[in-house]
Amino acid sequence: MSTLILTNIGELTTNVEGLGDDPADPTGLIRGAAVAIVDGRVAWVGRAADRPRSLADVSAVVVDAEGRAVIPGFVDSHTHLVFAGDRADEFAARMAGHPYVAGGIRRTVAATRAASDDELRARLRGFVDEMHRQGTTTFEVKTGYDLTVDGEARLARLAREVTDEVTFLGAHVVPDEFAGDRDAYIDLVCGPMLDAVLPFARWIDVFCERGAFTPAESRRILLAGIGAGLLPRLHANQLGHGRGARLAAELDVISVDHCTYLDEEDVRLLAASDVVVTLLPGVEFSTRQPYPDARRLIDAGVSVALASDCNPGTSFTSSMPLMIALAVREMGMTVAEAVWAATAGGARALRRSDVGSLTLGTRADLVLLDAPTRTHLAYRPGVPLVRAVYRGGELIA
Ligand code: NIG
Ligand code: FE
Repeated sequence: MSTLILTNIGELTTNVEGLGDDPADPTGLIRGAAVAIVDGRVAWVGRAADRPRSLADVSAVVVDAEGRAVIPGFVDSHTHLVFAGDRADEFAARMAGHPYVAGGIRRTVAATRAASDDELRARLRGFVDEMHRQGTTTFEVKTGYDLTVDGEARLARLAREVTDEVTFLGAHVVPDEFAGDRDAYIDLVCGPMLDAVLPFARWIDVFCERGAFTPAESRRILLAGIGAGLLPRLHANQLGHGRGARLAAELDVISVDHCTYLDEEDVRLLAASDVVVTLLPGVEFSTRQPYPDARRLIDAGVSVALASDCNPGTSFTSSMPLMIALAVREMGMTVAEAVWAATAGGARALRRSDVGSLTLGTRADLVLLDAPTRTHLAYRPGVPLVRAVYRGGELIA
């Protein structure tokens, strides 16, 4: 049995309502806290002064946080990390005034098809290290940059080497070789490609957007995935208003992502559903679009998550602290809401109850900040405030 005790924590975000100093605080913030971890799981959280004597095990390793803040590890529920090449030239062109178009995906498809397993694997592992160093302890990875049967299965297999949360996104765009017959491509996605990816994937996703897939096509693809046992999520309403968000509510997907352009009816339908709305402000930053209105969603009662969408086209960053800073500065979220959305919100968007919060039995994924409060994540944007990262009780960064 191994016991690790983190004590003298200035403020601990547990994300368990009722556990904090203010019983009504959904982030369960405890000041002057300690956490005990036994065999990689949280065994106790509370005020340091209340720590049970039974946990004063002589073999326990005790870490003094010296008044710093601790939060749960970030849960990044939306990334596209298996790819080759980059598109810095497109970013530069956008910053010079050209708009983003979904067609750029095809350039990354060409580079990814040409890359070996080892090249893709090395790149992916580099991103995983980068995420760990920034406090991310759980992440999702999508396929979608090969768009052939064997190639999508290869990307899913490589993604599965680094995470259990693998998403089949064969419906990212219609590849050039099917330009004249999109229905044939959709048949492939719903049939042989889905079958080939199935052993590695937990989720199915579609890019429902002008230039990618229509709502009717998206429905067909999601239903095929659901029929095969995958859980549904959807990219919708990213580049303009469309019917994707309504489709998400109607099919009761687990998460609908982007949602930059929503009308009142979309918000009403999403609020009446159990769908998590995952906002990806790295995209608005990198495509110079207006930020989504998180305040309106939260006030309507929607459960909001924050994720990076790390991908070479629209958001080439894996920084969850940056997402928090943008959400607070640009999207009307309070610091508490943004930290919750980047941890517990991401866990909800991945249907995970073992991560995103710190309470008896959850996986001991914690971030020790080099700051006295979590507010510093937004108050000191761009500053590397992650001092130590534990995943399952192990120090990983
Ligand atoms: O989430 N929206 C679809 N996929 C990515 C963009 C991918 C790309 O441009 O390569 C996104 O923004
Ligand atoms: Fe995406």
